[in-house]
Amino acid sequence: MLVLIGIIPAFITTAVVVRSYKKRAVFQRTSNVKSQCDILTNAIMREGYLENPGSEVLNNELMLLSNVYSGRLLIVDSNYRVIKDTYDIDTGKTSVSPEVLSCYITGKGSAYYDNRNAYIEITSPVTDPELEEVKGVLIASVSTNEIAQTVRDLENQAFFLISIVTVFVLVGGFFLSTLLVRPFREVTHAIEDVTDGYLDEAISVPDYTETESIIGAFNNMLARVRALDNSRNEFVSNVSHELKTPLTSMKVLADSLNGMDNVPVELYQEFMADITQEIDRENNIITSLLAMVRMDKKAAPMNFERIEIGGLLERVIKRLRPIAEKRGISILMEKYRPVMADVDEMKLSLAFSNLIENAVKYNRDDGWVSVSLKSDVKYFYVSVEDSGLGIPEDQIDHIFERFYRGDKSHSTTIEGTGLGLAITRSAITLHRGIIKVQSKVDVGTTFMVRIPIEHKE
Ligand SMILES: Nc1ncnc2c1ncn2[C@@H]1O[C@H](COP(=O)(O)OP(=O)(O)OP(=O)(O)O)[C@@H](O)[C@H]1O
Ligand SMILES: [Mg+2]
Repeated sequence: MLVLIGIIPAFITTAVVVRSYKKRAVFQRTSNVKSQCDILTNAIMREGYLENPGSEVLNNELMLLSNVYSGRLLIVDSNYRVIKDTYDIDTGKTSVSPEVLSCYITGKGSAYYDNRNAYIEITSPVTDPELEEVKGVLIASVSTNEIAQTVRDLENQAFFLISIVTVFVLVGGFFLSTLLVRPFREVTHAIEDVTDGYLDEAISVPDYTETESIIGAFNNMLARVRALDNSRNEFVSNVSHELKTPLTSMKVLADSLNGMDNVPVELYQEFMADITQEIDRENNIITSLLAMVRMDKKAAPMNFERIEIGGLLERVIKRLRPIAEKRGISILMEKYRPVMADVDEMKLSLAFSNLIENAVKYNRDDGWVSVSLKSDVKYFYVSVEDSGLGIPEDQIDHIFERFYRGDKSHSTTIEGTGLGLAITRSAITLHRGIIKVQSKVDVGTTFMVRIPIEHKE
């Protein structure tokens, strides 16, 4: 198709060029012959050839001209009698053609090109310069075969050239397109392989620079998919493990009770208390898991309401204060003015509850927790600071991961599932907010949250 777009103009151009060449060639031939005829008519007059057509010199010249242009020359006198014919066919005959007549009447010559029969006919008057009277007419018919031949040659050459170019374009285009398409086909194959299961490998199509960036982008995406896949697997195995641990403990406790004879009631009570504790733990894990599922946007859509954030924080603190006071930890609330904001109260309460609960849990006895609320036109800021154990630098990047629990030394004494901060961060992200942490071991930890005041769809 594209080839046609290229070839058609080539043909048109050739036709135009050939035509104008032909026109020019005919015009040139006509004017050449015309000037020769002018010279001849002058000589004819001078020599008195019309009265006495025997002149050797003129006869030779007429023959020469007719040979050079492969044409025929006729001289007609005032009685319309042909007195000379270089072909010697019409000599002595009468010739009354329209051109000859017009020559006598107007005193001017004419030129006429017959395209079909390929000749030019030129009539020139033989004029007596003194009387200004037409005495005779010279008719020259010259063939244009040779011009036609040249035109045909030109056309053939052009056609040949165009054919060659067409073939080149076709072959070149074919090669070029396969050359261009091949890398992309390879990429497609590579992607299909990955889709079919070899998820572990990055795709590579060496030798082609065209597809480098696509492959780069694809491999990045693949890496993300893989990371997601890994975290999902990890999550599933963590969940199973966490859910199994309390069950295992309960089974050990129950089995040992069953294996003993005459168990004292005190031991029964002690073991049963332990079993109850494990049931509570199992319950906590399941509650957290459900809370996490609820943080999934699709599972539970956001329920934005305009509420006062200071009040929300106070309600959370009120719930946690009894637990804190058991260890002599005081919770302080610092706020400046009411902050009204669009939030999902249930989810945000859960988030802050987790933060303040951590601040109490990972605190020293008789420590303190300080909660502050500030705001500007766009955001409100909540910070939860404690005087607790702090988080070692190498753990700080992991604390928001599901099931991650810090330092094993205190994770055995302090209970938890490791889901709290994961839930907190989801809740804050759902509010288009951000959470940051700063911590120093044995000094304390500060969590800072920033959330937009207005919710825009
Ligand atoms: N205020 C804090 N001070 C010191 N360490 C903290 C603090 N908050 C969190 N951490 C560390 O981050 C880890 C993850 O916290 P996260 O709240 O996600 O889980 P958890 O408190 O162990 O369990 P859960 O909250 O599910 O009961 C904790 O185990 C703890 O090591
Ligand atoms: Mg926690």
